[in-house]
Amino acid sequence: MTRDATHPIAILERMESAAAVGGGAPRIERQHQAGKLTARERISALLDEGSFTELDKFVTHRCADFGMQEQKVLGDGVVTGYGTVDGRTVCVFAQDFTVFGGSLSGAFAQKICKVMDLATKIGCPVVGLNDSGGARIQEGVESLAGYAEIFTRNVLASGVVPQISAIMGPCAGGAVYSPAITDFILMVEHTSYMFITGPEVIKTVTCEEVTKEDLGGAHTHATRSGVSHFSEPDELAALARIRELLAFWPGNNVDDPPTKPTQDPVDRADAALDDVVPLDSNKPYDIKKIINAVVDDGHFVEVQKDFARNIVVGFAHLGGQSVGIVANQPNQLSGCLDIDASIKAARFVRFCDCFNIPLVTFVDVPGFLPGATQEYGGIIKHGAKLLYAFAEATVPKVTVITRKAYGGAYDVMASKHIRADVNLAYPSAEIAVMGSEGAVNIIYRTELDKIADDIARGQARERFTAEYKKQFANPYRAASLGYIDEIIRPRETRAALIRSLRMLANKRQSNLPRKHGNIPL
Ligand code: HXC
Repeated sequence: MTRDATHPIAILERMESAAAVGGGAPRIERQHQAGKLTARERISALLDEGSFTELDKFVTHRCADFGMQEQKVLGDGVVTGYGTVDGRTVCVFAQDFTVFGGSLSGAFAQKICKVMDLATKIGCPVVGLNDSGGARIQEGVESLAGYAEIFTRNVLASGVVPQISAIMGPCAGGAVYSPAITDFILMVEHTSYMFITGPEVIKTVTCEEVTKEDLGGAHTHATRSGVSHFSEPDELAALARIRELLAFWPGNNVDDPPTKPTQDPVDRADAALDDVVPLDSNKPYDIKKIINAVVDDGHFVEVQKDFARNIVVGFAHLGGQSVGIVANQPNQLSGCLDIDASIKAARFVRFCDCFNIPLVTFVDVPGFLPGATQEYGGIIKHGAKLLYAFAEATVPKVTVITRKAYGGAYDVMASKHIRADVNLAYPSAEIAVMGSEGAVNIIYRTELDKIADDIARGQARERFTAEYKKQFANPYRAASLGYIDEIIRPRETRAALIRSLRMLANKRQSNLPRKHGNIPL
């Protein structure tokens, strides 16, 4: 039926059509030519088909300077609303680069704040799709105020609802701090960048020459700075990753994570696991072989896979239950804990604890990485972050020591003493203050120094080492003290983990009331 153009429904339809095209066809074309989707296309790819309800479609900016009163675009450069991912509600905002370069006005910020307030009120995740030239230059301080309103909400929502940011274009200056506060950042390779100050400013101030991509592209933040958690080849892959991640998380801090039915038998034994850990404790192996072999359907979503590779963190399901996995990686820096690894794992552990996701920790750690660079960089305070995170966590914590658990790192890696619930060890576990060679050099130094003959000294050293190994390079001393609950065959790992998690399903533990702790930042 054709309606008169003045009919109220016709007016609404015209306005809706105008809002839908944002900055107009030529700018949409430019966006596509740059290899990017529009805000609405991104939302469609993220949410279940037809599930999006847009809010504030007709909001416009309030700026009257620089001729801006003549340039109003319905929606003002950000598309906000709610919809579902796998049937579960999420709130979303997508910055629209076709409208004033996605730059943030006061009205734009209010739209984002509104949808964030809604998310915290109803207890659902917030997904932010970022593609913006930063503060709307024509609006001055109103724009800066808008950013600060968003930052405040990011902080107050932290630990209440999961927050996730995808960077799909520019994200520079103070604008980076909203994503930085959110729980996870995804970046799209070659079309996104994040930095506080761009190449031009850096050149002026420090005379350094660096390209935009090298300074703040997806590769840089995935490998060097650790700012991002996922680097994806294109936008659709990034949006699919968000959907995948949401399936592991509850909507908020008082809900339990969703379960995922599986055909993978809970008691599936894997004989190949018995031979993954080499008998020679100096030989590396890939801890991911164990992780992939034990989790449901071999599906492990690794977080920050190219940063601090000496520790592996990520999400999986065990018997349908969502878990966060933390594991030393013996084939990188022998699995030592260093500054980056400690920070990476601490933040991951805290995310899991915020959102009731049990922690499964695989331990094969020779200690903290020695070196002046580490000491000067503050390994003391950074290592303490991981200790703090594991110790304060009240979610179910199940630990498996596969091989080395030496020194302070034994304590830190979810040991019994920092309130892990179930501590398992393989027969190959070595739980000691340090490796046998190092220990012999210290405790037998005087005796060895007394032996003048080199061959005889070598033989004595071997004898002492073998003795130390027999005494301490095994799990039995710790088991005799009750620090290890059970020594399991590697093939039984999956069954033992699922059994433990099911036993812990109703775990209740809380820390003493306080304003907040003071994690060593
Ligand atoms: C208003 C802006 C804008 C901005 C871009 N546009 N950035 N409008 N405020 N910040 C407009 C452009 O005028 C242009 O409008 C359209 O968006 C697309 O921009 P282009 O420059 O044509 O696009 P491109 O070549 O892809 O370059 C993108 C860009 C560049 C690199 C982001 O636009 C740029 O450098 N913008 C300025 C960035 C900036 O300095 N922002 C302030 C940072 S300080 P038309 O009409 O031609 O389509 C900041 C502080 C935040 O953000 C503090 C928070 C605490």
